[in-house]
Amino acid sequence: MLPDFTNPQIWWYLTRASAMIAWVLLTLTMVWGILLTTRVLRGADNPEWLKVTHRYISGLAMVMIVTHIGTLLLDDYINFGWADVLIPFATNFEPLPVALGIIAFWLIVAIQLTALGARWLPEALWKSIHITSYLAIVAIALHSGLVGTDVGNPWYTVVSLILITTVTLAGIVRLIIAGREKPKRRADTALAAASAPAQVQTGFEARVVERTPVGEKIAQFTLTPTDQSLDLEWEAGAHMTLHLGNGLERQYSLAGDPAEQNTLVIGVLNTGGEGGGSAWIHDHLSVGDVIRCEMPRNHFPLKPARRYQFVASGIGITPIRSMVDSIPASREWSLLYLGRNREDMLFADELERLFGDHVTVWATGEKGTRANLRELIDPSADVYGCGSEEMLRELELQVAPRRLHLERFEPITRVSNSSVGAFELTLNRSGTTVEVPETETMLESLERAGVTVQASCRRGVCGTCEVSVLRGEPEHLDSVMSDADKDELGIVYPCVSRSRTPSLTLDV
Ligand code: FES
Repeated sequence: MLPDFTNPQIWWYLTRASAMIAWVLLTLTMVWGILLTTRVLRGADNPEWLKVTHRYISGLAMVMIVTHIGTLLLDDYINFGWADVLIPFATNFEPLPVALGIIAFWLIVAIQLTALGARWLPEALWKSIHITSYLAIVAIALHSGLVGTDVGNPWYTVVSLILITTVTLAGIVRLIIAGREKPKRRADTALAAASAPAQVQTGFEARVVERTPVGEKIAQFTLTPTDQSLDLEWEAGAHMTLHLGNGLERQYSLAGDPAEQNTLVIGVLNTGGEGGGSAWIHDHLSVGDVIRCEMPRNHFPLKPARRYQFVASGIGITPIRSMVDSIPASREWSLLYLGRNREDMLFADELERLFGDHVTVWATGEKGTRANLRELIDPSADVYGCGSEEMLRELELQVAPRRLHLERFEPITRVSNSSVGAFELTLNRSGTTVEVPETETMLESLERAGVTVQASCRRGVCGTCEVSVLRGEPEHLDSVMSDADKDELGIVYPCVSRSRTPSLTLDV
């Protein structure tokens, strides 16, 4: 039976019902979101339906909020106008409680819009707006508890207490787990930093067991530690620094299967110039030779996702190769591999043979035309790219930042726009301070003060000089991983980065 819309009380009933349903749904949304972010509800696998459910409940809550506002406007008794329900303190009727409801409404609108546009927005922006949902739920509780004809009814009091208690408990879970995870993330980072940085020398010797030429300029090398008891523990996307006989250091991505921890496969493109690193390897490194290496490090990890698309060009196939070797069988994935001539494309035939339709090898010489990334990018996949700067820039135009994961061989040009010129470093372990003038990098100032930080490229691309930031806000100017990831990990690359605050405290 349809409600009697001629009954003047109907809008008031609907207002009360929609408000209560909205409050229940918002509480559910929030609890669901907390369980998602704290990974109580999901494992590392991150099933999509969990996130979709969160979105559906929040969408339903939004419908109920709009119904609540709409029915308030339709109710003749209270006689609200648009301004009364949309502008805080515009009404004379219970101005503070109503204003709290309106503020909560606008916060929820901002959260919904930025969540819908999350793929196009910087992660830090939409996440910081998302976090205001805590304020919104408090404002809603106050709004609901201070205004309305049901306030004081025993059933209303019971439901309100259940909702408030549920959110409070979920918030406590969030705080406890976040409190546990942050130090763990810092510890992981410190561990990763300590696995190679200069303060601790953790290198090893590796022997060349195989060398295979690929096309005119590439050689594939397989190395293995001379000490086979060594525990290397590297994962897909990792790279390794080689100490060359001419005094240079060069980083190479590991292209083998991470399940074979002691089989270190690298591909080296002989660029001829660039200080002679790759040329030295081509000219001097042969089967049986022993070379000094640093422990593998990973700034390009494979994160859980429902669908992956890998895009590589040229020698950029090396980290991608280890990714496709280690991806779980249940995942959907594809690889787009770009190059000029098939014979110069490392692993091209092997990848097609092993993975069939998953792999598209686009050799311009065969296809007669260059690949159009706009047509070939999968809009629903998490994209991992490595290769030419031109290809990476095209990916940055085509793919939302939060779904894009890149590894660069060459640094991009980043210019400081911080108003802080000179700044001060506080070194946590010694308690000393070091001035960083405008004319020096942090790394140079640390070295001038006698502090050893391991560094290799000094151009913000290899990740070797990574240090943990304990206080202050760094200005990231490197090309190693996304700035949001660095902030989340609490790290900085001092060879190029600076500070946004007059002082930074580093864990060195
Ligand atoms: S030394 Fe390579 S990133 Fe700093």
